[in-house]
Amino acid sequence: MENITLFDPCELGSKQLNNRVVMAPMTRTRTSPGDVPNAMMAQYYGQRASAGLIITEAIDVAPHSKGYLWTPGIYNSEQVSGWQLVTEEIHRHGGKVFAQIWHVGRMAHTSLMPDGEVPWGVTDEQAVGSDVFAHNSEGKLTFVRASKPRQISTEEISDLVNVFRTAFKNARKAGFDGVELHAANGYLFEQFMNTVLNTRDDQYGGQSLENRTRFLLEVVDVAIEELGAGSIGLRLSPFGHYNSMPDDPHGEETFFYLCHELQKRGVGYIHLLYELLPSGNMEQVTEFKELHLPDDFVKKSREVFKGAIIWCGSFTKEKAQAALETGWVDMIAFGRPFVGNPDLVARMKNNWPLTVADRSTYYTRNGEIGYIDFPNYQIS
Ligand code: PHB
Repeated sequence: MENITLFDPCELGSKQLNNRVVMAPMTRTRTSPGDVPNAMMAQYYGQRASAGLIITEAIDVAPHSKGYLWTPGIYNSEQVSGWQLVTEEIHRHGGKVFAQIWHVGRMAHTSLMPDGEVPWGVTDEQAVGSDVFAHNSEGKLTFVRASKPRQISTEEISDLVNVFRTAFKNARKAGFDGVELHAANGYLFEQFMNTVLNTRDDQYGGQSLENRTRFLLEVVDVAIEELGAGSIGLRLSPFGHYNSMPDDPHGEETFFYLCHELQKRGVGYIHLLYELLPSGNMEQVTEFKELHLPDDFVKKSREVFKGAIIWCGSFTKEKAQAALETGWVDMIAFGRPFVGNPDLVARMKNNWPLTVADRSTYYTRNGEIGYIDFPNYQIS
């Protein structure tokens, strides 16, 4: 059998993707006031629609899920209309798009919360070593420490499941091909799953696997009711320590239990942070010699979960191709290379050079600059 390449089609649920190159979710802070997506965002995503699958930037499920300024929402009709522009433009160019939906939980700041409310936490434990992008005490926009959260009540968790249901209905109305739940990187779903952090004593907490994954699986079930299992993906970061997540001695067990539950439900894909980041604000210290998920771990994930598997984390074309050839993964997500190369798929396929975008334009409010002004490769 011939080896699969990045440029071969791929099944995802009942959908056929044109290739195995995924555009990774990336915050770009270009939303209009009110956290509303706009025509410029539609153009940005449309330019990149030759990816087999686009996963949008993280989208707030509600006003109280905001951890970074200028991330878009999906909880009111104006936002749904904005997203319609985006999905139409992607579909017009023959692409497919999943909405990445999150609740940041404790990774927030009182200055970003409605009425200066305290961020929502699985407990009241603060993410003491991690920053969010918000206003400091002088009102200046900068990176500031996440505020101390309050532990949300059992009832609030049940209500939140319904808030997610509304977001899924909205995603369908907006024309998305599916949704990705952001259950990675120390945001709310992962906060629930971590045995060290989640010391709750209700049905959503404590040491039992069922309790710690209950909130996420309730949301998955609601997503399945609204969109169908094949249109659901989950972003996961096993062994990750990003956003002050404590080292979890039961992390691996939780991950495989979750994979098993997702498999039972026929969920479309899991999207794994393959690279384990060593330092900096991305505080992923690792017990492994190599800075990626261990081979026996990814092999087992393939055995347990039969849907599609996506890996992400600083892949080059060569590394991505080698990864596909292991047979443990179906698609590779690229983030930064998509910023400066809207035609990344064609550039990789033809070995054309890549443009390196200037990082200082990643998260600005300068509109088009560094956003929609990157041309496709011109053959001279
Ligand atoms: C993350 O997935 O860790 C993430 C998402 C959106 C941001 C920042 C970080 O704005």
